[in-house]
Amino acid sequence: MVELLPPLDLRAPGAGLLEGLSELQDHQARVLKSRHPLRVELEGFTAWPLVNGPSAYYYLVHTPLPLAEPVLEVVREQHRQIVALYREAMALGSDGAAFEQLLSRHMDTEERTLYPLYQQIVQEERLIRELGYEHLGLRRGLPEFGPFLRKIAAGETSKRDKDGFDIRFFHLFEHHMEREEESLLPVLEHLCPGEAAQAARQFTSAS
Ligand SMILES: [Fe+2]
Ligand SMILES: [Fe+2]
Repeated sequence: MVELLPPLDLRAPGAGLLEGLSELQDHQARVLKSRHPLRVELEGFTAWPLVNGPSAYYYLVHTPLPLAEPVLEVVREQHRQIVALYREAMALGSDGAAFEQLLSRHMDTEERTLYPLYQQIVQEERLIRELGYEHLGLRRGLPEFGPFLRKIAAGETSKRDKDGFDIRFFHLFEHHMEREEESLLPVLEHLCPGEAAQAARQFTSAS
């Protein structure tokens, strides 16, 4: 079981990174908060970016850990399915219902399982708050998708319109998925594999 040391805020006067890291023992982790990105400084540790700028950089740092079993692979697989369903609907101007259903169910399941688990394990609010805002943005954008697809089917859209829709709506999903895959999922797989495997069972596939 991982013990969380109190977070270390390097933006506070007198806070020392080296001491903060040297205090870490095996099976201990700690959140580092910084005004600047830390890369070289964290070499030799296992670290995940929780908040990645531009005004703050948070990392969860652990003494070196072996690569974990990808018990949340089903979540990554669902991300790929969502991307494929979106591209298919945009290419064909087909009904986007499968995309909308899977994306909505995916976000609901994350909010019910992975997000509370992360908060319980890492005791850090900001990552989940930001991921939650991104879900909100996606939920707000979803009702525009069906009408836009109908315009595609009617031949009323140019390549520029489609690119614009991608930028307004879908880039948010791609950015969101990357964040989950580089921080949320590996953190849970490394720090609480048993609970993560249990949460994975809640993600049912599209078909
Ligand atoms: Fe999500
Ligand atoms: Fe996700």
